[in-house]
This record gives sequence, C-alpha cells and structure tokens, in this order.
Amino acid sequence: MDAELLLAHAVGVSRTRLLTLDDVAESAEIRFRALVEQRADRVPLQHLTGRAPFRFLELAVGPGVFVPRPETEQLAGWALERLAGAADPVVVDLGAGSGALALSIAHEHPGARVTAVERDPGAIEWTRHNAAARAAAGDPPVTVLPGDMTDPQLLDDLDGTVDLVVSNPPYVPEGAVVPREVADHDPPLALWGGPDGLDVVRGMLTVAARLLHPGGWLGIEHADQQGVALPAVVRAHGGFADVEDHPDLAGRPRFTTARRS
Ligand SMILES: C[S@@+](CC[C@H](N)C(=O)[O-])C[C@H]1O[C@@H](n2cnc3c(N)ncnc32)[C@H](O)[C@@H]1O
Repeated sequence: MDAELLLAHAVGVSRTRLLTLDDVAESAEIRFRALVEQRADRVPLQHLTGRAPFRFLELAVGPGVFVPRPETEQLAGWALERLAGAADPVVVDLGAGSGALALSIAHEHPGARVTAVERDPGAIEWTRHNAAARAAAGDPPVTVLPGDMTDPQLLDDLDGTVDLVVSNPPYVPEGAVVPREVADHDPPLALWGGPDGLDVVRGMLTVAARLLHPGGWLGIEHADQQGVALPAVVRAHGGFADVEDHPDLAGRPRFTTARRS
C-alpha cells in the first residue's frame, strides 16, 4: 500500500490511476526509488507525500506536526453526533496539531463556531496553514490560538459558554516504546504525557470544566491502556457526569466522554 501511494505521488496521479499507467518516466522512477528508501528508513508515509487523509479532508502535514491517525476519526464522529441539531454550537479543540478535529467539525457542521488551541509554535504553523486552506475552500473559518490547555486562564472569555470540548492530548506514558516513525518524526510535545500519560489531561480537565456550560460535552482520546484510568481521573476531578469510555473500530479502548454537570 505504501509503495503504491509513493509511486502515485512520484508520478503525480491518484493510486487508482496506477492501474492504467503503461509506463513510468525515468524522472518519476528516480523520485519513487528515493521515496521508497526514505520510507524503508521509517520516515512516515504522510511526511513523504505531505498529506494525511482525515474523514472528508486531506490535511497538509510534515516535520513539526503530529500526523493525524485514523482512530481519531471516531472521536470526531462522536463529537459531530453530539452537535447534531444545534444551529451554531461553540466548540473548542485543545491541542489541535494539524487541525484534524477542529477542521473536520467545521467542515461537517458548518454552523459550529470552532476555536483550535495549540501550544507548540512549530505545530501551530500547520494548524494555521490547514485552517487557511479549508477557509479558502469554502469551510467556515476556525479561530486558531496559541495557548496551553492546562493554563487555568485559557480562553476565559468563553467561560460557561462552550457546548463541546474535544481533545486528542499527548498521552503516551514516559518510557513507553513507540515505533521509529513516531519517536523520530512526531513532535515530543504531541506524545509524552508524564509517568502515566495523563498529566496533561489532569491539567486540562479544570479548563474544560470551566469552559463548558452545564450539559456541555467533553471527549478525550487516550491510549489503549487508559480505558479505565482516564474515566477514573475524570470522575475524581468532579464536575462531570455520564462518564463513559468508547472502543475504536479494532475494539480497543480509545476515548472517554462526559457531560458537564
Ligand atoms: C496527539 S497530538 C493531536 C493533534 C490533533 N488534534 C490530532 O488529533 O491529530 C497532541 C497535540 O497537542 C499539542 N499540545 C501538547 N501539549 C499541549 C498543551 N499543554 N496545550 C496545548 N496544546 C498542547 C501538541 O503540540 C500536539 O499538536
């Protein structure tokens, strides 16, 4: 699959068009061989093509930003189901990276007023780039702000007005072994979440509780091993009801949701 996608990228056609190619120009072949070598050296496919698909969007990605993962599409789907029927809900994405969650929500629920917060100065350049590209393509504008999701004053102008907070925070426990594509190419700030992986989440819950109005929704992605620990942290924090955990399509615990009480 990766080889096909890289060949399609080198030739400049879609993957399905490869079937109808009679020949590959020498220049494309040279490009293809170089890409295969880089991929064999564990450079992520998406860094080589510069694009990552996410739900209905194709986002620009590269060094300095977390590559959005297919698992996160389910959290976006859950969020969009919560917003169904709301004319102009207020939505906040904490730790936006490429903008996958924020921009998908704006694309699929055009009335939503979405704010994307990102702390990493390198990553936010990608958030801004993708947000500008989506706005140019006709999606409603998403507000992109630098900020720390654990900052007690974050977005205090939105206190008690937010309908939905969504986040795919850094949640990898310190010392966990991750593939080279991740260790060498995803930014450290996107990955590591302290000894049990939940340090950033603990800080973020206070912010989410302050931003959400009673009845407002919270959705947080987590690692496979955190399907019990993260709901427990949310319950222990207080201020949230209906705390539930959800599996991904492979049946692994993947995200926790709750409602502001
Ligand atoms: C796992 S990535 C998720 C990116 C994107 N939301 C996605 O789902 O593909 C986590 C993101 O949170 C950002 N981040 C980490 N700590 C943060 C903090 N304290 N405040 C705001 N953003 C933070 C990282 O820079 C990274 O872009």
